[in-house]
Formats: sequence, C-alpha cells, structure tokens
Amino acid sequence: MTRKICFINYKGGVGKTSLIVNTASCLAKLGRRVLLCDFDTQSNTSIWLMRLERWNRLNAEGKGAVYSFFEPGGVRLRDLIVKDVVEDKNGQPVLPGLDLLPTTFNLVDLENEYTGDARRPAYLVFQEQLAELALDYDYVMFDCPPNLLRASQCGIFSANEIYVPANPDALSLIGFTLLVEKLGKFNQISAGFRKASMGAAAQVQGIIFNSIKTGADIEVPKMRMQLRLNQFKTARRAAPQSKIFDTQIRDAMVVRRAVTLGLPVNLIGQEGTDPTHDNVVNDYRRLALELDRHAA
Ligand SMILES: Nc1ncnc2c1ncn2[C@@H]1O[C@H](COP(=O)(O)OP(=O)(O)O)[C@@H](O)[C@H]1O
Ligand SMILES: [Mg+2]
Repeated sequence: MTRKICFINYKGGVGKTSLIVNTASCLAKLGRRVLLCDFDTQSNTSIWLMRLERWNRLNAEGKGAVYSFFEPGGVRLRDLIVKDVVEDKNGQPVLPGLDLLPTTFNLVDLENEYTGDARRPAYLVFQEQLAELALDYDYVMFDCPPNLLRASQCGIFSANEIYVPANPDALSLIGFTLLVEKLGKFNQISAGFRKASMGAAAQVQGIIFNSIKTGADIEVPKMRMQLRLNQFKTARRAAPQSKIFDTQIRDAMVVRRAVTLGLPVNLIGQEGTDPTHDNVVNDYRRLALELDRHAA
C-alpha cells in the first residue's frame, strides 16, 4: 500500500518544506520509492531539489510544472514528474528513488483564474490521475502552503495522513488548531467525491517539533500541544493513534545552507564547518524511521 502524506500547518516558516524534503530524502536512502509533490506556489521544494538554473527554465516556459495538468490540453500528471530529481554538479543522479512533481509560480492561477467543471473540483481531477501513478511508489508526499485553498486541497484529498510541523511557540499551536478546523470542513465538503478505494479521509497523525535550539526547554509548549491534540482526539477530530513524534529536529545551520547547495542534508558532505551536521542528519533519519513505523 502506498502511503499518502501531507505536511501542513496553518503557520508559515515552521519547517514544512525542510522537514518534507529531508525526510523524503532519508526514506529514499532507506530504499523507499518516494514521489514528492510540491503544492506551494512559492516553489521552495522545487527550487531546492532542481536547483535554480533548472527550475528557472521550467518557470520561464510556463509549462511542464504541476499547473499544466489543470490547464486545457490534456497534459498527463505522469509526464510532469522529474525522475530521480537530485543530481550532482555534472547532472548525474545521486538519489535514485526520489521523484518530484515540481511547481512554478503559475500554480497561483489555480486559486484565481482556474475555472474547472464545478461538478469535478480540481482536487478530484488530480486525485484520479494520481491514484494510478501512486502505485509506483511507497510514499507520495505533499508539501503544502499554510492554507487549505485549492492547491492544498489536492494534497489533502489524495492523502490519508497529515503531519503537522511545529515550532515550540504559541503561533504553531494556533496554526494547528486552525488547520484541524479547516480540515474538518473540507473533509465534509469533499466526502461525496470519495471512493472506497481511496481509504479514509486525511486526519492528523502526528506533530513534529522542528528547529529546537540546543539546551532549549520545550516542555511547556509541548505539553500545550499534547493537551490540544488530546482534545481533538476525544472529539474524533484527530486520528486515535496520533501523537507528538518522539523525534524532534534540532536547529542547525546546515539546514539553511542545504537550500543553497541544492541538496538534502543527508547528501551534503561534511567539511567540518558545522559541528551539528551529523546530529541533525541523524535527527532526520530517526524521523524517517519513526514515520515509516507509524501505522495510520
Ligand atoms: N532545523 C532547522 N534548523 C535551522 N533552520 C531551519 C530548520 N528548519 C527550517 N529552517 C529554516 O527556517 C526557514 C523556514 O523553513 P521552511 O522549511 O521553509 O518552512 P515552511 O515550509 O514551513 O515555510 C528556512 O529558512 C529553513 O532553512
Ligand atoms: Mg514551505
């Protein structure tokens, strides 16, 4: 069974993109076949993994990225996928098994200019083609913007599991709360379009704390998050087995640097500049294993 997973929080800058890219990379290293779908019009995942030059060409062409699928012309989702996306400087694949459905800035038009058939919302059209394609993968992972507009809906509708990146602060808690509210509404509206073969509608399965500074005491924000999660579980608005992940990701310079290098952190050779490098790579590895074990 392919696991279909969204990383989303209604708060921006919490680490959705860095978590999903680095976790996907670790899963691919473990031998899993992973398709990462970029549904954030800011295109951070796509720019990171394709590197700027390759992505700039795609963005300038105005076709070949995920929005093309929603435009008239019958482009197939399968033809938009960038296979083994991570390459070295010579264009050689360095991480077989990690594919990308890229986005460019025109994805914003899905929110404005897109006029589909009202009886066939964008998320349904997307899910139908993804279903067939997904059979080639162990994981399909969606990087979403901090909202539940049309682009995110494609991920949410197709997925069965939601993970919520969080920082140890009040805004992450508010973002989580807002997400669960909007998710409940969306799952209601879209229920009529679901087929049995899709499995259960996406529910929150886990909270992942990110960017934790060395020595920081996060017990209080963690406890507040746990209380909120418990309330949602009692109200059946989060999965019964949902939890705060044991693994948390430390704050490390190399995470920011990885974007410039165009590599996930587990593929960056250590030049001894960042003493926390090995540690944060291990955090991501542990997270990937914990996710792999977590049965939805
Ligand atoms: N563990 C971390 N350590 C250091 N910097 C981080 C870490 N996680 C994320 N960042 C940085 O924080 C910023 C926001 O992260 P990002 O993953 O883009 O968040 P989001 O996708 O939620 O907006 C980026 O500059 C990113 O490099
Ligand atoms: Mg992002």
